[in-house]
Amino acid sequence: MAEPLLTVDNLVAGYGRLEILHGVSLRVEAGKITGIIGPNGSGKSTLLKTIAGLLTPQQGRIRFQGVDITGLTPHEILRHGIMFMPQGQRIFPRLTVQENLQMGGYSLAQSAEVNQRMGAVFRLFPILQEKAHQLAGELSGGQQAMVSFGMAMMSRPRLILLDEPSAGLAPRIIQTVFERIAELNRGEGMTFLIVEQNIRKIMEVADTVYILDKGENVFSGRPEEMRSREELMALYLHL
Ligand SMILES: Nc1ncnc2c1ncn2[C@@H]1O[C@H](COP(=O)(O)OP(=O)(O)OP(=O)(O)O)[C@@H](O)[C@H]1O
Ligand SMILES: [Mg+2]
Repeated sequence: MAEPLLTVDNLVAGYGRLEILHGVSLRVEAGKITGIIGPNGSGKSTLLKTIAGLLTPQQGRIRFQGVDITGLTPHEILRHGIMFMPQGQRIFPRLTVQENLQMGGYSLAQSAEVNQRMGAVFRLFPILQEKAHQLAGELSGGQQAMVSFGMAMMSRPRLILLDEPSAGLAPRIIQTVFERIAELNRGEGMTFLIVEQNIRKIMEVADTVYILDKGENVFSGRPEEMRSREELMALYLHL
């Protein structure tokens, strides 16, 4: 079998001397959606931040497309094709929608490519084309979520790390965001690693789900398999 797109082996990481991840391992297959769930404070965001290069692991290895990327800077990791969308505010409120999207595509060499990607984002979220010249900070929460999603799409990443894309959004917008994720996955073969509190939604779209608890991986498998494990559902379904 081919090597996974992303392989995380025995990752130990945290903040200063505070160890949060105690040896986490994970595989992300190309063209698939991989979900990570787990209680608050279990280290989900820490894991994504470490993969994205914002934190340097104390131990362990991260391989992407067959290359060891452990310890590289966030910029280098982005250049390798990994785009990280952190939890919370992710847009530039005082720039227009169009300018925000251009920021997302700053790593693209050709302006023709920027325009082509922006066209693709506008097809995905037509409302953003209508609001292209408005300040992003003046849009609704759901529209701002579309802007940040669009920014992530601009650099044509090979892997997108999403930290709680549904947080703070109305149910209808959550529905749209997950539909777009599924569409990009099926249509463009885009690979996602998604941290989510919305278990129902992530179980709908994910090919594989990981459960992280207290900095350790306590389950990995298909959503159906997780659903059939009553003890897991009892412990983690209420998240
Ligand atoms: N910058 C930081 N400095 C020190 N400790 C931190 C920092 N950020 C997070 N932590 C701690 O690391 C632990 C894991 O945090 P993390 O944000 O990874 O959890 P999480 O699983 O993403 O939680 P949530 O579901 O609430 O987003 C927590 O105990 C948290 O207090
Ligand atoms: Mg988090």
